[in-house]
Amino acid sequence: MRKLLPLIGTPSGSHPGGRSAMTCRFRCGDACFHEVPNTSSNEYVGDVIAGALSRRSMMRAAAVVTVAAAGAGAVGVAGAPSAQAAPVAGKGQGHGSAPKGARGLRFTPVAPNTEDAVVVPEGYRQDVVIRWGEPILRGAPAFDPEKQTAKAQAGQFGYNNDFLALLPLHGERGRQLLVANHEYTDEVLMFRGYDPENPTREQVEIAWAAHGLSAVVVEEDRRSGRLTPVPRHHLNRRVTATTEFRLTGPAAGSDLVKTSADRTGTKVLGTLNNCSGGTTPWGTTLHGEENFNQYFANSSRATDKRYGVGTGATERKWERFDKRFDVAQEPNEVHRFGYVVELDPYDPTSTPRKHTLLGRFKHEAATVRLTQDGRPVVYTGDDERFDYFYKFVGSKRMKRGSSRSVREHNLSLLDEGTLYVAKLTGDSPATDIDGSGKLPADGEFDGSGRWIPLVTATADGAVSHVEGMTAEEVCVFTRLAGDKVGATKMDRPEDIEPSPHTGKVYVALTNNSNRGKSGYAGPDEANPRSSNKHGHVLELTERFNRPESTTFAWSLFLVAGDPEDPSTYFAGFPKDAVSPISCPDNVAFDDHGNLWLSTDGNALGNHDGLFGVATKGDRRGELKQFLTVPNGAETCGPVIQDRRVLVAVQHPGEIDGASVEKPASTWPDGPGKIVRPAVVAVWRADGRDIGV
Ligand code: FEO
Ligand code: CA
Ligand code: CA
Ligand code: CA
Repeated sequence: MRKLLPLIGTPSGSHPGGRSAMTCRFRCGDACFHEVPNTSSNEYVGDVIAGALSRRSMMRAAAVVTVAAAGAGAVGVAGAPSAQAAPVAGKGQGHGSAPKGARGLRFTPVAPNTEDAVVVPEGYRQDVVIRWGEPILRGAPAFDPEKQTAKAQAGQFGYNNDFLALLPLHGERGRQLLVANHEYTDEVLMFRGYDPENPTREQVEIAWAAHGLSAVVVEEDRRSGRLTPVPRHHLNRRVTATTEFRLTGPAAGSDLVKTSADRTGTKVLGTLNNCSGGTTPWGTTLHGEENFNQYFANSSRATDKRYGVGTGATERKWERFDKRFDVAQEPNEVHRFGYVVELDPYDPTSTPRKHTLLGRFKHEAATVRLTQDGRPVVYTGDDERFDYFYKFVGSKRMKRGSSRSVREHNLSLLDEGTLYVAKLTGDSPATDIDGSGKLPADGEFDGSGRWIPLVTATADGAVSHVEGMTAEEVCVFTRLAGDKVGATKMDRPEDIEPSPHTGKVYVALTNNSNRGKSGYAGPDEANPRSSNKHGHVLELTERFNRPESTTFAWSLFLVAGDPEDPSTYFAGFPKDAVSPISCPDNVAFDDHGNLWLSTDGNALGNHDGLFGVATKGDRRGELKQFLTVPNGAETCGPVIQDRRVLVAVQHPGEIDGASVEKPASTWPDGPGKIVRPAVVAVWRADGRDIGV
C-alpha cells in the first residue's frame, strides 16, 4: 500500500506546475510567462444549448447501443498484439501474494519518489530501447556528442522523444516498427559550452536534424524480453525540420501559405515541436505540431499573437540562419506550422502530409475512431491555457488492404469532412461551482456538450461555418474561429483517446494556473478548480455512442492531485487506495480497457510517472503508479501491449542551471556520460502479461 505524502509546494519556485524554467524555455517558449493568448470573451454560459439532450437521457441512449464502431477502429494496428516475450530462463522473480486490482493493473504501485532512475514495480524489468543519437540509417556514425554534426544527426535517432507508436511488421518475426516524435531540442544539454546568445550554424543545423520524427524497426530478444533497434533496416527513416511535406486540405495553395520559396503554397520544409500523436486504423501515424510559435521571430500581427508568436528574437535564434523563421521577412511561413501531420511509415519514400482541415493550433495529439460505416473521426486538443478541443468527422470511408491505390485513398481521408470545436455546459447551478473542487450538490462535475461546426470540405471545395471567415481562414486561424463560435475555454487540453472498448473519449487537461485569476475565465463545471495546479481528466460520451454525433454528455473522471487533498476525485473510488497523480498529459489504453496516463510536471514535488486506472467495473477510478522517470524528465508516449510497456523518457536532466558540463541527471548511462532522452521498455520478469 502506498504511503500518503504530505502536500508540498512547487519545487521550482515561481514556475507553474512542477516544471523547471529550462523546460519552459526550450519546450514551449515560456508560454506560461507570456500573456494567455486567448483574450476572447466567449465566456462559459450556464445553459444555452437549445434542444440539447439532458446528460441522463444521453447516458441511457449510449448504454443500449453497440460499440461496433469502436471495435472497427482497431483493425490490428492501434491495438496490435505484442510480439511474444519468452519467459526468462530458469527463474521468475516472485510477486509474493498477487497484487489486487483490475485485470491489467495487478501490480504493486511504485511509490512517489525522486530517484534519478526509471523505477518499475517489483517483478518487472526494464531496458533502454533506443537513445538520442543512436544511428538508424545506413551510413550514420556512432553517437559522439563531442563530434556531433548535422549530417550525423540526420541519420540518428532525434532528441526529446515524445509520442510513440509500435506497428506490426508482417513477415518479420519478432520485429515491430517503432515511430517516435522528437518534440524539441535542449541546446544547453546537447552542446558543450553552448552560448545561447551566439549559437553556431552547425549547432542550429544539428537542432533542425534532431527535431521531427523517427521510424526504426525494433527486434525482440526472445530470451530476455529486450527490444533493440535494427539499424539500416529499409523502413528506418528520419523526418526533420527540413524534410519536404505536402500541405493538403482547404488552406493548401491559398495565399495565406505561399512563401518566396514556395509560390504554390503546397510544399513545406519540415515539422516542428511534434508532441503527442496517434495511430490510424489504416496504418499511418499522426503527429501534432504543438508549440511551433516559439521558432518564429519578429511578428507584430494580431493573428500571430493569438498563437503566442513573439515580437522579438527567438530563444534558438534560427531566424539568423534561415529567414523563413523571421516573420518580418517571410510572413506566411509561420502559417505552415501548427498542423496534424501524417506519415506513412511503411513507405519510406512517401512525402508526409500536413492536413489543414484538422485546423491550425498547438496540436497535442490526434487520435482516431471509426464510424460504423468506416469514416474517420479524429479528436485533437489545443494545449494552451483557456484553449479548446476539437473533433474532425471525415466523409470518405476507409478502404481495407495494403495496395498502393488503397493506401493513397486512405491518405486522403483527412481532407474531406467537417471540423468541429467543443462547447460544454454544466448541469449544476453555477453557484455550486466555487472553484475549490468541492463536488456540486448532484455529486458530479458533469453536463452536456455540443460540437460546433467550423469548416466543411468536399471534393468540390470548402465552406466556412464561421461568420466573417473564409474556409481557408478557418483552417489557418482556427483559434480565432473557435473564439467566434464561443467554444469552451479548457485547462490545457493535452492528449485525447477514445476507449477501444466503450467508445468513451478521455481528454487529459493538464493544469491551468490562471483559472479564476483576475482578468481570466473563472471556474466552470468542466474546469472546476481555480488555479488548477494538478489537472483533471474528462470523460466524454458521444450521443448514441456514435463518434459522428454533434452532441455529447461529459463528466470529470479524475480530478488530479494528492488524494488527501479534498479537491481530488477518482471516479468515486476510495481515495485511500489510489496513487497521487499530478498533471496528466499523454493517455493510452491497454487491451483490458484500462486507461494509462503519463504526467508532465508533477506539482506534488515527486518525479513524473506512468499510471494505470480502471475505467469500468467496480474498480473504476482505482489509479496505480506503474513507473517513475529520472531527474527533470517527463513521461511520454506510452504504448501498452500485452507483455510490454513502452515509455519515452523526455528531457531527462532538464533542471535549471544544468548543462553538459554540469548535468542534473546521470541517466541513462551513468556518471561521466551525457544525459540522453531515450525510449524504455518494461516487461515482466516472468514473461507473463502486464498486470494480470
Ligand atoms: Fe508537448 Fe502539451 O505537451
Ligand atoms: Ca453536475
Ligand atoms: Ca506533452
Ligand atoms: Ca500529450
